[in-house]
Amino acid sequence: MAKMEVKTSLLDDMIGVGDMVLLEPLNEDSFINNLKKRFDHNEVYTYIGSVVISINPYRSLPIYTPEKVEEYRNRNFYELSPHIFALSDEAYRSLRDQDKDQCILITGESGAGKTEASKLVMSYVAAVCGKGAEVNQVKEQLLQSNPVLEAFGNAKTVRNDNSSRFGKYMDIEFDFKGDPLGGVISNYLLEKSRVVKQPRGERNFHIFYQILSGASEEFLCKLKLERDFSRYNYLGLDSAKVNGVDDASNFRTVRNAMQIVGFMDHETQSVFEVVAAVLKLGNIEFKPESRANGLDESKIKDKNELKEICELTGIDQSVLERAFSFRTVEAKQEKVSTTLNVAQAYYARDALAKNLYSRLFSWLVTRINESIKAQTKVRKKVMGVLDIYGFEIFEDNSFEQFIINYCNEKLQQIFIELTLKEEQEEYIREGIEWTNIEYFNNAIICDLIENNQTGILAMLDEECLRPGTVTDDTFLEKLNQVCATHQHFESRMSKCSRFLNDTSLPHSCFRIQHYAGKVMYQVEGFVDKNNDLLYRDLSQAMWKANHSLIKALFPEGNPAKINLKRPPTAGSQFKASVATLMKNLQTKNPNYIRCIKPNDKKAAHIFNDALVCHQIRYLGLLENVRVRRAGYAFRQAYEPCLERYKMLCKQTWPHWRGPARAGVEVLFDELGIPEEEFSFGRSKIFIRNPRTLFKLEDLRKQRLEDLATLIEKIYRGWKCRTRFLLMKKSQIVIASWVRRYAQQKRYQKIKSSAIIVQSYIRGWKARKLLRELKHLKRCNEAATIIAAYWHGTQARRELKRLKEEARRKHAVAVIWAYWLGLKVRREYRKFFRANAGRKIYEFTLQRLMQKYFLEMKKKMPSLSPIDKNWPARPYLFLDSTHKELKRIFHLWRCKKYRDQFTDQQKLIYEEKLEASELFKDKKALYPASVGQPFQGAYLEISENPKYKKLKDAVDEKIIIAEVVNKINRANGKATSRIFLLTKNNVLLADQKNGTVKSEVPLGDVTKVSMSSQNDGFFAVHLKEGSEAASKGDFLLSSDHLIEMATKLYRTTLSQTKQKLNIEISDEFLVQFKQDKVCVKFIQGSQKNGNIPTCKRKNNRLLEVAVP
Ligand SMILES: Nc1ncnc2c1ncn2[C@@H]1O[C@H](COP(=O)(O)OP(=O)(O)OP(=O)(O)O)[C@@H](O)[C@H]1O
Ligand SMILES: [Mg+2]
Repeated sequence: MAKMEVKTSLLDDMIGVGDMVLLEPLNEDSFINNLKKRFDHNEVYTYIGSVVISINPYRSLPIYTPEKVEEYRNRNFYELSPHIFALSDEAYRSLRDQDKDQCILITGESGAGKTEASKLVMSYVAAVCGKGAEVNQVKEQLLQSNPVLEAFGNAKTVRNDNSSRFGKYMDIEFDFKGDPLGGVISNYLLEKSRVVKQPRGERNFHIFYQILSGASEEFLCKLKLERDFSRYNYLGLDSAKVNGVDDASNFRTVRNAMQIVGFMDHETQSVFEVVAAVLKLGNIEFKPESRANGLDESKIKDKNELKEICELTGIDQSVLERAFSFRTVEAKQEKVSTTLNVAQAYYARDALAKNLYSRLFSWLVTRINESIKAQTKVRKKVMGVLDIYGFEIFEDNSFEQFIINYCNEKLQQIFIELTLKEEQEEYIREGIEWTNIEYFNNAIICDLIENNQTGILAMLDEECLRPGTVTDDTFLEKLNQVCATHQHFESRMSKCSRFLNDTSLPHSCFRIQHYAGKVMYQVEGFVDKNNDLLYRDLSQAMWKANHSLIKALFPEGNPAKINLKRPPTAGSQFKASVATLMKNLQTKNPNYIRCIKPNDKKAAHIFNDALVCHQIRYLGLLENVRVRRAGYAFRQAYEPCLERYKMLCKQTWPHWRGPARAGVEVLFDELGIPEEEFSFGRSKIFIRNPRTLFKLEDLRKQRLEDLATLIEKIYRGWKCRTRFLLMKKSQIVIASWVRRYAQQKRYQKIKSSAIIVQSYIRGWKARKLLRELKHLKRCNEAATIIAAYWHGTQARRELKRLKEEARRKHAVAVIWAYWLGLKVRREYRKFFRANAGRKIYEFTLQRLMQKYFLEMKKKMPSLSPIDKNWPARPYLFLDSTHKELKRIFHLWRCKKYRDQFTDQQKLIYEEKLEASELFKDKKALYPASVGQPFQGAYLEISENPKYKKLKDAVDEKIIIAEVVNKINRANGKATSRIFLLTKNNVLLADQKNGTVKSEVPLGDVTKVSMSSQNDGFFAVHLKEGSEAASKGDFLLSSDHLIEMATKLYRTTLSQTKQKLNIEISDEFLVQFKQDKVCVKFIQGSQKNGNIPTCKRKNNRLLEVAVP
């Protein structure tokens, strides 16, 4: 956070001393050191009483912001750090509130910051004075007059890039409320020689460069100008461009400002035409021309430029040409014309340019004044701001420096006068005894210059008006005579012998001891510059111009108003205007700003002691302090004084109830300040010595520290107490919450414990009850069981008893029956035969058998051998009979069925039976073959002529003729072959033509192998060593494998009386030539439908995948 500063006095946080009046000890060194110290701390303003010393910082400081304006607004002068705003505020407020006209006098050497200071004052006043549309327009016009005048009146010099080459005094007028109404500007002595010639490193007036850089091509063309600076003789070339200055944009600013100030378009146009004409005049050159009468004449070299000037200004070319060639002198109705030589022509040209420009400048001031003039006739309050060139001491000082320094002498005089007067007035006002102050009064120097009879200016005028040859030397001679005795005048040739041997003083110079130092003036040019002559022919030519502005600038050219009287000389004109200015200033309350330049390099942060020392001397600042301190160094109104120091005395601290003066008296008495050190005025206390003030300040500082400690103590106490109270309050709140919380917790705990205890008790009670109930239940159950057992026992006993009883009853009945039987048999024995029972039994049996067979006859099943029906058994005792009967009946009906067969059928069934014995439950292919009749010759060999050869080769009966697939042993692929089985042989023949490929006698067939699966593959193994076996066993596949194998088996059996070995296995070996290859049957995928595939896996394995 930024530190909050509340200033109540200039003495707060002071760097060095803010007011030089308080400087102790007071001498040149301490003065400079104080300024330097402050400058180094960015404090560029320092007071001498109410005078502000301003040191040019040469950089922008953040001390002119709107916040600063607010800070200084309506504050007392000594309340805050020294600032130009404090002075502006003081001036503005006493103008507004006390109805005192003010003037602000800004002095200092070139580049010290006068113009900037004047602008700051104006901007401050503009910021704090009234507001409103009309007022704002007036303000804007007043502020915008600055850029216009600066463009035309300022130039870059070696000292300052924006040096004012004219003096300016501006009255700002306010109404009774303090609102600005308007203003009046006065200008002094424009340095017009700059128009035609500039010293090395300097420039002409800004406006020339601004036009050439900033104007549009079109506008330049209109003005007949070219953008190139080097085209113009009047523009010094070596520093045409200034660092940090944008001429083009400044041109726009100027045009804008002119518009705001109120220049009409045609006026602006005329102004620039005149500027262009001046620029072009410099380009007119002359050449000598001799005439017959021996007079020297000149001629314009190139008339083109002249022509353009005339077009621009509306002057008749011949008139102007003539004016540059002749000079007409009129004396007592006589006109004498003389020709001008080249030098004179150039002189005339430059004089015209200078005059044209300086008159234009004056016209501009008048024109601005017209615009900014107050519109009402009411009484106005006035604030004058004077920005005038400061004292100038160059190596070569001429008429201009003389005039400027004269002006500064006058200002110094008025400064002394007014300061002393003010001081004296204050003493009188305050009822304090006035002690005379010793100071240097420069009135004597002013008198040396301006005295009407013996003053240097009067002498110069006299010399200029004198008939006969007048030169600068005759003027110096005159000075030497008249001023010789003056103690501030020094000249080698004066009558005063003091300077006869002063070699530092050349013969063509005179020296004046100004209040600010000695200045040596070169007398050369004084007469000419004072005369400031423009040949009448030229002014008449100008007047004839068809250009309203130019015509107005040269009113003396009007032949109707011809005035033979010489115009007033420059010197006397200046003297008069200075006198008017002084008179004006004297009526106003002065405020001084003394500007100091810290270095010659236009650089920030450099403080050149010697340079500053020189300025302090000639500005008479030490003198100023001394005057201010002559009586009392410090004064202050009672109220602020009491307010500032009341803490130093018990009676006045913290409040003084009585009048402020009495309070201050008590205070000073208490502090024991010696009486000679102070005086009581009517409203102010006057302190003689700064030491007393500093002592007071030290005491105050000490006391403030004590008070600060006290305040801090109380504040800390208060803070701690408040904190304590807050903490206590918080503690109570926290404690109550904690207690509440603890109690809540405790309650919860007790509650839960109670619940637990309660639950245990309840549990215990419940368990007890449960136990009791269980016991009761068990008792009941036991009773029930016992009862049940008891009942059971009872029942069983009863049952036993009943059974016993029943048995007994049965026994009784049996016994009774037997007894009865016995009794009956005994009684009826005599009526029965001995074998009657046997007969009845047999009869009954016979009857039953009869009935069984009769019923059997009715229920007999059909004669089909496959009918499985058989009636149910009616009597158990006939069980074995019934089964035997069924068997016999089946055998009988089978015999009956067989008896119907023919021999051929018999053969077929034999074969089928054989097949069944061989393959049933052994090969999965078998069940499918049961329903198929065995046909044997599937292939009609005899009918097909293709097989005639085959038929011829086989003379026996063919048992099987069928197409089989012979499996190629190398790759498992199949080839069709005709398979023939005859009584003695097995043949394999080509299917296409019936050629016999192999013939094997049945005796050579040793074995047939096949898988247990649903495939038709089979291998025919041949007897080792037999002829047929040389090619190896056959691996074949057939759709009628079961039939073929059965037939082969049967045929072999019948022919060789040997049983053919049929091996059913999923893995068997087959002899291929020399090798034995394993044929392996595996469960394969159904990729090719239901056809098994055969694949040679390696040379030992042939794999058949059966789906
Ligand atoms: N208060 C300031 N803050 C910053 N820069 C300043 C200040 N005062 C002056 N300057 C700088 O110094 C330069 C010269 O100032 P200024 O033109 O006011 O001098 P001057 O005293 O008017 O000189 P001259 O007599 O030649 O007209 C300014 O252009 C500006 O750069
Ligand atoms: Mg200036």
